[in-house]
Amino acid sequence: FPSGFVKLETKHATIRRNMKITVVGAGFYGSTTVQRIAEANYADQVVMVDILEGKPQGLALDMMQARSIEDFDTRIVGSNSYDETANSDICVITAGLPRKPGMSRMDLLEVNAKIVSEVTKSLVSVSPNAILVIVSNPLDEMTALAAKVSGFPPERVMGQAGMLDTARFKHFVAEKAGARPQDVVALTLGSHGETMVPVPSQVTVQGKPLSEIFSAEEIEELVQKTRDGGAEIVGLLKTGSAYYAPSSAAAHMVKAIATDSKEQMPVCASVNGEYGINDVYLGVPALIGAKGVEKIVELDLSADEKEALVQAADAVRAKQTDVMQFV
Ligand code: 2OP
Repeated sequence: FPSGFVKLETKHATIRRNMKITVVGAGFYGSTTVQRIAEANYADQVVMVDILEGKPQGLALDMMQARSIEDFDTRIVGSNSYDETANSDICVITAGLPRKPGMSRMDLLEVNAKIVSEVTKSLVSVSPNAILVIVSNPLDEMTALAAKVSGFPPERVMGQAGMLDTARFKHFVAEKAGARPQDVVALTLGSHGETMVPVPSQVTVQGKPLSEIFSAEEIEELVQKTRDGGAEIVGLLKTGSAYYAPSSAAAHMVKAIATDSKEQMPVCASVNGEYGINDVYLGVPALIGAKGVEKIVELDLSADEKEALVQAADAVRAKQTDVMQFV
């Protein structure tokens, strides 16, 4: 055979036939998340829901027509109704508005709180055993709100932010060091906003601590670039916000739940006692598996980093109290 005609082995061997995953929102973030989950080929079905008539159906049909080329079996269903999502194992909420240039994520609080509250009610009424992954902004507040509205135990509600912020931190460090981002170990904690806590003490490049590679000023610049990572893209795009790296992050969390990988990753989780912090949804490292947030991991942070995390918790807790009026 000419080499182009040789059938390649499928990249993804494990298929979990009974796994049903819902993604709410057929915007760029939602649809690329659906695409990544479907192409990873472990789920039986992904349902994409949106209020816009025809949009989720059209995108689903388009993605389904790529199956023979991309070699995946996951069925993608587009719908305007939550009936189609019934008995989902995992639900990702991307619904809501993105930022415009110059806006902070917090400016979206009121409008997105109404949307996330309604979406959560509709989802949990037909999927009472699902695990929820929230990505709508402001992230930490929307995660706390979805947890409250759902009435689910805290381990079954988490938010995506730390995976994305950490991937951005790795990117900026790798670019500056002339390394591959895959050879960088990094971590961000705290909020997905002003009080994000990139954690330089946990960063290495090919095993070498960051402090042996860059000066304190250079490290502070990398930290600030990471905090501004989302805003930089919003400013360039002019309409809409980032979605390629965000959807990678969300899809990776979904896969960890679906395959019970117990991978340690930074997620927005309910913190009660860990790091001496209580009563708040905050970005922390956790083991993610079939039960959701299976364990929050307490790392050895520097005194400054610990203090920054406590400050982030205080700021986020205050806002999370405000948002409860939308329950
Ligand atoms: C970001 O940081 C969408 O909040 C997301 O790009």
